[in-house]
Amino acid sequence: MESSYTLRTAGVADAGEIARHRGLMFLDMGLVIQSEAEALTVASAPWFADVMERGQYKGWVVELEGQIVAGGGLHLSEVGPLPGCLRVVRSAHIANIYTHARHRKQGIARSLLNEMLNWCRESKIDQVTLTSSSEGRALYTSLGFAPQPDGMLLQLEQKR
Ligand SMILES: CC(C)(COP(=O)(O)OP(=O)(O)OC[C@H]1O[C@@H](n2cnc3c(N)ncnc32)[C@H](O)[C@@H]1OP(=O)(O)O)[C@@H](O)C(=O)NCCC(=O)NCCS
Repeated sequence: MESSYTLRTAGVADAGEIARHRGLMFLDMGLVIQSEAEALTVASAPWFADVMERGQYKGWVVELEGQIVAGGGLHLSEVGPLPGCLRVVRSAHIANIYTHARHRKQGIARSLLNEMLNWCRESKIDQVTLTSSSEGRALYTSLGFAPQPDGMLLQLEQKR
């Protein structure tokens, strides 16, 4: 990543932009259309502000001349003691990795992820998980992530 880009931790004031990254990420992945991406952004913004205030989400953004051009974050959680591991295990789930199209292929997402993983090591996070898009797969593999066998899921009915 060129030195004209700056990387910083995100604050609650960035929740709207992080929500926009979420909408754009799913749009670029082909999972939603424009109007759905916009609705997702609107629905996500207050939620990001809330989880950031509660310390459950830690975000980073990359700026160029004061404009945010990329971002990513970690959902933080804990798992209680298990057989063979009697301490609390701290987990981070990577989410919302997004680089605006004009700024791609310059190492921005790689710099973001390296910063996030350094923070995880310093913060004694035990394990880092993610769900990869096809565009992100080579990047995550090169950073040491490995595919895991599927777990199981029960989808409970909820009103939208
Ligand atoms: C995936 C994405 C975040 C990569 O951002 P970026 O800033 O361009 O990534 P980088 O420049 O740091 O590239 C890092 C590596 O990713 C890979 N990569 C980047 N863009 C890629 C693409 N379009 N297709 C395949 N691999 C790609 C390359 O292997 C690159 O490795 P290199 O450093 O050896 O060249 C960006 O393309 C994006 O926002 N895509 C849409 C949303 C998305 O898929 N987000 C990830 C969700 S899991």
